[in-house]
Amino acid sequence: MARAKIGLIGGGNIGGQLALLAAQKELGDAVLFDIPQTEKMTSGKTLDILQSTAVYGQSASLSGTTDWKDLEGSDVLIITAGVPRKPGMSRDDLVKINTGIMKDVAENAKKYCPKAFTIVISNPLDAMVYVYHKITGFSSKKVCGMAGVLDSSRMETFIAEELGVSVADVTALVMGGHGDSMVPLPRFTTVAGVPITELLPKERIEAIVKRTADGGGEIVNLLKTGSAYFAPAASAIKMAESYLRDQKRVLPCAAYLNGEYGIRGYFIGVPAVIGAGGVERVVEIRLTADEQALLDRSRGHVADLVKATGI
Ligand code: APR
Repeated sequence: MARAKIGLIGGGNIGGQLALLAAQKELGDAVLFDIPQTEKMTSGKTLDILQSTAVYGQSASLSGTTDWKDLEGSDVLIITAGVPRKPGMSRDDLVKINTGIMKDVAENAKKYCPKAFTIVISNPLDAMVYVYHKITGFSSKKVCGMAGVLDSSRMETFIAEELGVSVADVTALVMGGHGDSMVPLPRFTTVAGVPITELLPKERIEAIVKRTADGGGEIVNLLKTGSAYFAPAASAIKMAESYLRDQKRVLPCAAYLNGEYGIRGYFIGVPAVIGAGGVERVVEIRLTADEQALLDRSRGHVADLVKATGI
């Protein structure tokens, strides 16, 4: 069987880490793309990573490029292209700039990679995945955004620390948009099957929920010169692996909703089955009125962001 081709659009911090993880997991051959000014960088990164595969004896080929032709026929695309928010830049300014970048990426993806399963990471995530889907016209099963796996992993980390248990035994569920209005769900968050509502007092759960929602900002404040990239890359690779190996993992991700959870026409974080068919199914769980109200509020924020794209 031919090896999968994995196109990584954006060769910055997350892009480099994606290339490394794709090689380590032998998911396929990765092509790391960035705009022309950075040609040396992507080729340099991928050559360095390729040499690490020799150390471990892994079988993967890697290359860097600034030419979309080299991405032709990609099976998976993971998109991190964009600019970060700079001091003095409003959220709307950022949306406008990154919408322009995403349009360019989407036009090229449509031309060169029409069969790809695409995972968007660029922020503001819920708006960028919307723009990508709109411009490419790809099936909504073949387009999704990475946020829920990352946000849930952050919550799992905090719970494991709080209870002094292995993070392997913690499963958290975070739904909604990727931002201040995300919806961590303690009722569906368990330690070896036991809901954390049975294990932690209300105020500790509230503190963990808040820290989860602020999880990206906490890292930005610590790093000072950028945003998180190890955990975001790991999260997207988990999604790509589930697609390429048809694992049918149930992973929270920004999926296109067509009436599920009473929402239509937006990409919002929900649990979904990812397999060879892409986003094969959105898993619907019964929410309480309070939980649904939080999700509806989050949908409102996502709709505002989408409006700001002007698409
Ligand atoms: N096509 C491809 N790549 C582009 C384009 C474009 N049109 N425009 C910009 N880029 C590249 C930049 O040159 C840069 O190398 O996107 C890369 C982004 O990398 P970083 O700035 O290092 O950002 P990173 O930390 O990788 O995060 C990428 O993911 O989590 C989000 O908020 C984060 O939106 C950001 C994205």
